[in-house]
Parts: sequence; structure tokens; C-alpha cells
Amino acid sequence: MPFGHFDDEHREYVITRPDTPLPWLNYLGAADFVGLISNTAGGYAYYRDARLRRLTRYRYNNAPLDLGGRYLYVRDDDSADYWSPSWQPMRSELEEYRCRHGLGYSLIGAQRAGIRVETLYFVPPGATLEVWRTTVVNERASRAHVSLFSTVEFCLWDAQDDATNFQRNYSVGEVEVADGVIYHTSEYRERRDHFAYFACSEPPAGFDTQRDAFLGPYRGWDAPIAVERGACSGSIAHGWQPMGAHHVRLDLAPGESRELIFLLGYGENPIDAKFDPPGSGTLAKRAVRPLIEGYLQREAVAAALDDLHAQWDEVLGKLQVRTDHEHLDRMVNTWNPYQCVVTLNVSRSASLFESGVGRGIGFRDSNQDLLGFVHLDPARARERLLDLAATQLPSGGAYHQYQPLTKRGNDAVGSGFNDDPLWLVLATAAYLKETGDAGILDEVAPYDNAAGSEQALYEHLQRAVGYTLERIGPHGLPLIGRADWNDCLNLNCFSETPGESFQTTENRPGGVAESVFIAGLFVLAARESAEIAQRRGDTASEARYRRAADEMVAAVDAHGWDGAWFRRAYDYFGRPVGSVENDEGQIFVEPQGICVMAGIGLHDGRAQQALASVRERLATPHGIALVQPAFSRYQLHLGEISSYPPGYKENGGVFCHTNPWLMIAEAMTGNGEGAMDYYLRINPSARETLSDVHLCEPYVYAQMIAGPEAPTFGEAKNSWLTGTAAWNLVAATQWILGIRPEHDGLRIDPCLPAEWAGFTATRIFRGATYRITVHKPGGVVGRVARLNVDGVPIVGSLAPLPSRPGAEIEVEAFTANPAT
Ligand code: BGC
Ligand code: NOJ
Repeated sequence: MPFGHFDDEHREYVITRPDTPLPWLNYLGAADFVGLISNTAGGYAYYRDARLRRLTRYRYNNAPLDLGGRYLYVRDDDSADYWSPSWQPMRSELEEYRCRHGLGYSLIGAQRAGIRVETLYFVPPGATLEVWRTTVVNERASRAHVSLFSTVEFCLWDAQDDATNFQRNYSVGEVEVADGVIYHTSEYRERRDHFAYFACSEPPAGFDTQRDAFLGPYRGWDAPIAVERGACSGSIAHGWQPMGAHHVRLDLAPGESRELIFLLGYGENPIDAKFDPPGSGTLAKRAVRPLIEGYLQREAVAAALDDLHAQWDEVLGKLQVRTDHEHLDRMVNTWNPYQCVVTLNVSRSASLFESGVGRGIGFRDSNQDLLGFVHLDPARARERLLDLAATQLPSGGAYHQYQPLTKRGNDAVGSGFNDDPLWLVLATAAYLKETGDAGILDEVAPYDNAAGSEQALYEHLQRAVGYTLERIGPHGLPLIGRADWNDCLNLNCFSETPGESFQTTENRPGGVAESVFIAGLFVLAARESAEIAQRRGDTASEARYRRAADEMVAAVDAHGWDGAWFRRAYDYFGRPVGSVENDEGQIFVEPQGICVMAGIGLHDGRAQQALASVRERLATPHGIALVQPAFSRYQLHLGEISSYPPGYKENGGVFCHTNPWLMIAEAMTGNGEGAMDYYLRINPSARETLSDVHLCEPYVYAQMIAGPEAPTFGEAKNSWLTGTAAWNLVAATQWILGIRPEHDGLRIDPCLPAEWAGFTATRIFRGATYRITVHKPGGVVGRVARLNVDGVPIVGSLAPLPSRPGAEIEVEAFTANPAT
């Protein structure tokens, strides 16, 4: 059952009832200022770092789950009736409710008793503030006297400390109020140089800054005393819970509509100009005032909104496709790239499943996310690659994550995941193919951010590959370390202590646990490296990489094959994992995907056999499960994976991130039906009608859908921040539709189901616009054999690089029937 519908023309998802199965989220802003907003206006905002610069407070795992946000209250001053135009927090009875989640904005509103109130929330491009533009309309035949209250609860900056250190924090809260603007200044008196502000375009009739003065004793957000009585008390927070509330009175003629603007922003002052007058304790507002005044003007807000739309037009204009498949077009043209940009901005730090205090920018995560956003924002992809390289360790290994504010790596979520460094090679290769910017290889970056250790990115890549080669186990396969892509396959961990983190606990030394997955990943990375080395004229390295890749393939051939599929690993003791020899956990999805992607088994039928095994044993109507059978008991030697109940997360859930690998593998073996079938099983739009089972947003991918052993089979969790976004975009656009950037051109190599009759696409590549038409007679399953590029026939499927930037290039591609 759906809870809304797609509006493809406006690129919005329109939620038509507020009681969605879970809060359905959107993101406002980009790298500097980020806001999370749910369909009932819940959520919070932060500057750059969800942990260290949290502007507004949010209590995770609340009841209801989503409580706390950007709430407005409407009060009819004639009847004293009051209500929430975003439904929450009062869950008011509404005549009409709508939430339109669009690209970088959300419009949330409702009508009650003839008063319509809707608010557009967005962050102007480049600004460190969010705008709430509220329209109040009197639809009645009579005059209306309406009070509007706006509210935010401030966070005392460090979200972790804010949620735990009450003995201090109940005493440090401070605010200032000047000219109707509420400034949150906690800790500004001492070491902070930043503050938050909450402003309103109307001269307010009143304000509050102490939460419990606004709410009233023993009351919650669903019944604030100030709203009930129709007046704020002008409270000034001294400690406790600083908040911002404005009260605006409106006198509306029949049919009259009024527009109000609220701003929630982040400001900074130079350390030596924090106070005005100098030496006082008063926040210097001189720099921020003009900015506030500027955005309180309607024209400025309208212009910023135009900018936002134009920015998204440009980003999404990098690739637009037209096929006969609604779910593919909708995801590929709008929502999937949108989600990719959100993962660029937020990595795995802040969602309704990631608290913003747990994780920063993941090393493997961001490198994979880059595969999905590199064509959308190459400049930021470049910056991200160099930031990641700067946290690489001198050994070639990597921190598992870094903190966005400091860009420094840390071990807070563990270290020693032996796959991590190889992803830097894949990401760099993708960047080079997209941009042709070989200069990045000569850019220097330090190791572990240590000054003096700078080396060229090319050297970083070499160390990444070297890291694997220096850690090879008895079967010639890479040692797994703490884990590989599967964080929860902790083969050296042996944890028996309740509550101990599998990710950070000391590993048992002396084992020989190896990963077939890293072997496949290594083959991919080594071949990319060889190609990069060849282009640099570094023939010695090239030869070394090719040899290393071949040797790794040989090791997988000898020890990675189980008879009908690829094994997953060897454990601490050298016993196979993911084998018919095991009672449970006989087949894992990851090595089937990555090994076939690396080309292993493509020429001797084993790839096809592995894919048949996936179809038979792992594929479900809700996607491909990670492992089967899931582990029914805790396995000391396998680690966190078996800590999950069967069917959840890595223990046999449909871990959506891995599914596109199988789509790609199917495409590589020429099975267009198979690839498209897997694609549709987890495509969020295709699952929209299952919203009451799926639970998560129908416009973005979730990390996980509960697997067949789970009592809640089909239920999704962890939407938004997942490598699923990048990989699905890659699978759909580069392998199913086959539009694939290469060093020397744009490959047009679709692998389509038989019934398709072609498609068209526009792709911006190396500064040129490629207008692509694929001609495929329905019923034919062959690959593209020839192209017409601007009318010139070309044998094969590689459209050459543009001869000049800005070129418009017409590409017609023709498939050949393999039988002919
Ligand atoms: C998640 C990973 C996370 C790990 C931490 C896994 O279930 O999928 O994202 O790093 O747990 O424990
Ligand atoms: C989510 C993590 O962010 C990612 O790095 C990992 O590969 C998967 N979980 C699988 O464990």
C-alpha cells in the first residue's frame, strides 16, 4: 500500500498521509550545512560535522520514533484552537496534509478549519542556514486572527556530549535576543567562535528561549503552554534547554495569504572579534546581521530557490535516459543520483539510522560512493579522493573512517579491514576514466595527515596494492584482517564478552584467515593499476600488476572455487567458509559478485555456474540474500555476522549493496533479463506498492531488506546512507544500459532484456554532450557491434573522446544478433 505518489515532472515524492510506516526523510543542504527533515518536519541541522557542530537537538530512538524538529504551531486566536501543520508533534486532525520531498527542499503543510499553512524548507546553495518559507492562507469567508509559533531546540554543539553530560550541560546554555533574532551562544563565552541564530521576517509579538517556559511544566511538544494561552513569556535561557520560539500574530482578510520567512543559521566570528564591544560578553553580530537581513527578503529567498533548482538541473543533466521502464527512468534520472549526492555529503554519518555521533566519512564507503557521484560532481570527487588518500597509513592500509570537520582518520569504528585500501584504486580509476584528469596522480597527499610525509597519489595507489601483496595467506589468497567488505565477517575476533564491539576488540593473533572477496577485489584493482601504469609509461609496474592479478586469479581457481560457486573465505584455522562443507552459511553473495566482475570463471563456465547457484539459493522476491542458510546460532569463529538473528543485516538479510554486483555479473555474462530482474527486485520505486511491508522511503535505497529467515521478510531498514545507491546507479547505467566511461572514450555496451527495443540517453562526458540512441530490434539479445558517431561508422562499441569541449555528439548504436 502506498502512502503517496511520485510526481515525476517536479521530481518530487508526494506523501499524502502523515502516518508513514517510518519517518520518511529528505536532506537539505550540501557539505557545509546539512538538514535532515522528515515528512512531519522532524529532524535536525548541523554544520559540516553531525557530531561536533550540531545546531539542533534530536533524541534518537524516541517514542514516537521521530520527535523533535522544525515545528510550527497555528493558533486560531478567536477560538483558541491550535494545531500542527506538519501533523507532528500534536498529530492534529487535518483536513488536508501534504509533504512534497524534492531535490534539496521539502514542502510540508496542511489545512484545518479554513486556515492553510505550508512551509518550504531549504538551504540556499552556498549558505550556512536554512530557510523556512511559510505561507498562511485564510480560506474562510470571514476574517481570521491567527497566531503562528515557530520552534527549534538547540543542541549544545557536540551531539554526543549533549546527549550524555547533563551535570555540565544543564548549566552552560546561553542565548541572546536582539532585534527579534534569537542567538544561541552556549560556550561562546569561552572557546567557541561559533553560534546559531533563529530569525523571523515579522516583528515578533513575543519569543521564548527557555524550553520549559515555552512548553510549561510537565508538558511536551504536543501541548506547549505558550501556544495554548496564545503568548510567549519572553524567557531567557540560563542553562537547561535553550530553544528558539517566535510568536507572530496575523490578521487575515478572507482569501488573504501571507508569506513569512524564518531562518535557522550557523555563524562564526574571528577569534579576535568575537565580542562587541570588545572585552564585553556580547556576541558580535555585525558580520551576520546583513546576511540575516538579506535572506529575510522574499526576493532573496526566491532567487536562492531558483539557484537550487538550477543546480540540480545541472547535476542531473549529466545523465538522463529514456527507456520504456518507469521505475528505471525515475530512479536513474532523479532519485538514485540524488541519493548518491547525499552519500557524498553525509557518507554514513547522519540519517534516522545513523545518529551522527557514531560514524564519519568511511574510507571504503566514500570510495564506493564516488563511483556513483564522480560524473555528477567531478570537482568534489577529486577533493574527496585526496582527502581519503591523506588518511591512508604509511603501510598502505587505511583508517576505516575520518571526521569531516578535521579530515583526520580515527580508529573509533575499528581498523585493519584489509579490503579498505583497494577501494582507493577503484575510485581513482573511475575518476580518471570520467575526467581524463591524469594530473591527479601527481597531486601529493600525506600519509595519516602527517606533514612531511607527502607523496604523489600514484604512490598511494601503489602502496594500496602492495598492502594486499604483503598480506597473503597459505592458499595464496589475501589475509582478511579484521574483516573485508563484510564488516561482520570477523574471522580473527573470537569475542565472548557481552556487549564488546566486534569492530574494535583486539583480534587473536596467529591465524590464517583469508578472503576470497578481497582476492576478487584485488584482481580488479591490480588490473586498473596496470592500466594506469601503462598510461604513465611505467611498464615495470604495469607488468608487475598484471602478473599479480594473474597469480591471484590462479589462487582463486585453485582454492576459491567450491564446486558450484565461489567460496567466501578461509577461517582462522584454514577451514573453508561459504562451502557445501559448512552446515550453515554455505553460499555467500559477495564472492559471486566480485569474482565474476573481476572476470574470474567467465571463460570456463564457472561464472555462469556461480550465477546459477545465486539464482537457485540466494535470490528471493525481495532481492538477493547475503548468505544462505543464515546462521541460526552464534559462531565464535565468524564474529558479528552470526550475532544477528537469522535474516537480518549481514546474517542473511538482503544486503542491497551487494545486489548490483550480481546485476553487473549477469550483464557481463550476457543475461539482460537476469540483470533487469535483479534490478527491479530492489528498485525502491518498483517496491512502492509494498510500502506497508518495505516500510522505508520508496524513493531511496535502503541498506538492508530482511531476508527469508526473518519473520519480517521484505521489511527494509537503514535507508539513505548506503553504498547501494552508488552501485545501483553503476549497474543500471554502466552495465544494463551500458554507458560506461573508459580512459579512451565512452563505451556503449548495453545488455538488455530481449523485449526491449532500444532506448535513448544524454550523457555529459569530458565536457561534451553525447546524445545516444541504442537501436535494438525487439527479441534480439546481442551486444552493440557498431556505432554511427556523428554519422561516421565505427566498428565496435567505443565512442571516441570529444575532439573539443562543448561538442554535441550524436551516437547511434546498433546491436547485432549473436546468432548472425
Ligand atoms: C553494519 C556496518 C557496521 C557494523 C558495525 C554492520 O552490521 O552493516 O555498517 O560498520 O555493523 O558493527
Ligand atoms: C555498511 C558499511 O558502511 C560498509 O562499509 C560495509 O561494507 C557494509 N555495511 C557491509 O558490512
